[in-house]
Amino acid sequence: MAAWLVKRIRRSWENSPRIVELACGAGYLAEILQRRLPGMRYTGFDLSPHLLTCAARRLASGSEQPDSQSEISFLQADLVHDDWTNQLEEMGWRGKVDGVLSIQALHDLGGLAEQRQVLSQARELLKAGGVLAYGDLLFDDQNPHSSRFSHREHEEMLRACGFSLAGAPAADKDFKGSSEDGYTSAAIDGFGCYACYR
Ligand SMILES: C[S@@+](CC[C@H](N)C(=O)[O-])C[C@H]1O[C@@H](n2cnc3c(N)ncnc32)[C@H](O)[C@@H]1O
Repeated sequence: MAAWLVKRIRRSWENSPRIVELACGAGYLAEILQRRLPGMRYTGFDLSPHLLTCAARRLASGSEQPDSQSEISFLQADLVHDDWTNQLEEMGWRGKVDGVLSIQALHDLGGLAEQRQVLSQARELLKAGGVLAYGDLLFDDQNPHSSRFSHREHEEMLRACGFSLAGAPAADKDFKGSSEDGYTSAAIDGFGCYACYR
């Protein structure tokens, strides 16, 4: 799933892409990004100060070849209740972000209203052509959970956030990547993965 997300980011590659990760936890995706996107400017947000400390340690110690060009910061915020986009605004990032990423975390933000709110805020950060790419657990009728959604619900949420899903194929159980140039989705091991461009 991380490789799928990173591939979407590469489409909007610049020398020092600005990347925002929502609910980054202990920094597992950030560590992969650091290896694959040398020179990136990365800001990861999470609710948990403890996990953010782990993430900062992971990136400080995990880099085999220290990348002096990268600027990496981890910031504590409640993405639902805090004005986290203001922190990026102060950094001059509003409308200039190449990619907003999230991995197996949106379901922890709350229900449809909360996730939609956060993704709408994320869209405002993106530059033209920037990508929102995330993967999260799909609804499972064997283990129903109110904040996990079906493929169709994810697509409805993205449309409600203002993303164009032009070319989206009809939903089926094993939906696959549809287009390299526009909206793309994939089912990977029970996760729905989505990439939309502003
Ligand atoms: C299942 S973990 C996934 C973490 C990380 N993305 C990963 O793949 O390892 C969910 C994360 O969401 C964070 N989280 C939950 N509610 C949050 C909120 N309202 N704002 C920011 N982060 C939140 C948790 O602290 C946790 O790190």
